[in-house]
Amino acid sequence: SETLRIGIAGLGTVGAGTLHLLNTHYELIAQRCGRPVLVTAVSARDRRKDRGLNLEAVRWFDDPVALAGDPEIDVVIELIGGADGVAKEVTETALANGKHVITANKAMIAHHGTELAHRAEEAGAVLSYEAAVCGGIPVIKTLREGLAANAISAVYGIMNGTSNFILSQMRDTGREFSEVLQEAQKLGYAEADPSFDVDGYDAAHKLAILSALAFNAQVDYAHLHVEGIREVTSVDIAFAEELGYRIKLLGIARRVDGKISQRVHPVMVKRDVPIANVEGVNNAVVAEGDFVGSILSEGAGAGAGPTASAVVADLIDIARGIRLPTFAVPASKLDAAVPCPMDEH
Ligand code: NDP
Ligand code: HSE
Repeated sequence: SETLRIGIAGLGTVGAGTLHLLNTHYELIAQRCGRPVLVTAVSARDRRKDRGLNLEAVRWFDDPVALAGDPEIDVVIELIGGADGVAKEVTETALANGKHVITANKAMIAHHGTELAHRAEEAGAVLSYEAAVCGGIPVIKTLREGLAANAISAVYGIMNGTSNFILSQMRDTGREFSEVLQEAQKLGYAEADPSFDVDGYDAAHKLAILSALAFNAQVDYAHLHVEGIREVTSVDIAFAEELGYRIKLLGIARRVDGKISQRVHPVMVKRDVPIANVEGVNNAVVAEGDFVGSILSEGAGAGAGPTASAVVADLIDIARGIRLPTFAVPASKLDAAVPCPMDEH
């Protein structure tokens, strides 16, 4: 049956990881999709960089926007990053050409998710972003599909792997913040600008997306309260430990009297609460549904393998012919998000 032709824009940590996974599991994926899924084109900035990948059989594009418009590609995977600029142009061009788009770009979905959902819908294309939230944990699937029968009252948890890694390492090894951050960067966990991780903005991007899914609302990144972990010291962590608490950077979204409260900040979590024990690069998300009760999902929140796993899961859905709206309802039916004032949080 017909081969699904893939173009990948961006061959960094996640792009290279995705190509590696698709090569490793070519047969398995073809079997699960009932058709071959083949990367036929790629784009990155530097063609000469050694990426440990064999790119001989694929077409190279210096310009990722040209890749996005290429008629011989069915699905574009955007793995460049950044809320605006080239990543958005790639996404818009692909959708305008009727192609499905998969992205790991939470900044772009947090800032432009509603608008892009409209574009996808108008084009009859799928826009998927499982990898954008909590790396390898299928949290988009959990909210949009698994909990689709529930009214959801809250979604919260640990949504940034780099910060959780830093807090865990500072506690376990007594190492300094900046040293551990450098290690997270080397491991491929951090954003291109790591202040997004440590200042809470990356978790905020993810929370805005989860909140839109949970509450059938337009993405409302603008009204999020955000604090990061820069001010947390080893002494704070040690004192919290002594008192029976762990310091975690949490994203918390709740419905409060029909309004939506969204905030990201460090929290003292009692050690016997499951999310207090989520360590290293792991993330964990709790969703509260009226019929299901409380669901907890935990797993690796960043890194090449886990993130590629989520990217390719989206790809398999598309290859299987699954066509879901971008959020939990069609874009035209998303409620306007009514933010909850700070004093009501
Ligand atoms: P990297 O910085 O490792 O990779 C970015 C890639 O984009 C590089 O290959 C780079 O090219 C390419 N690129 C940058 N600008 C251009 C351009 N103008 N034209 C063509 N290619 C360009 O980032 P990551 O792989 O870590 O992240 C990619 C996306 O995935 C981001 O949106 C990030 O937020 C998201 N993400 C990352 C996770 C992670 O664990 N790292 C987890 C979940 C999501 P070159 O290599 O030549 O420099
Ligand atoms: N920089 C992000 C993190 C990558 O550390 O969680 C995963 O989205």
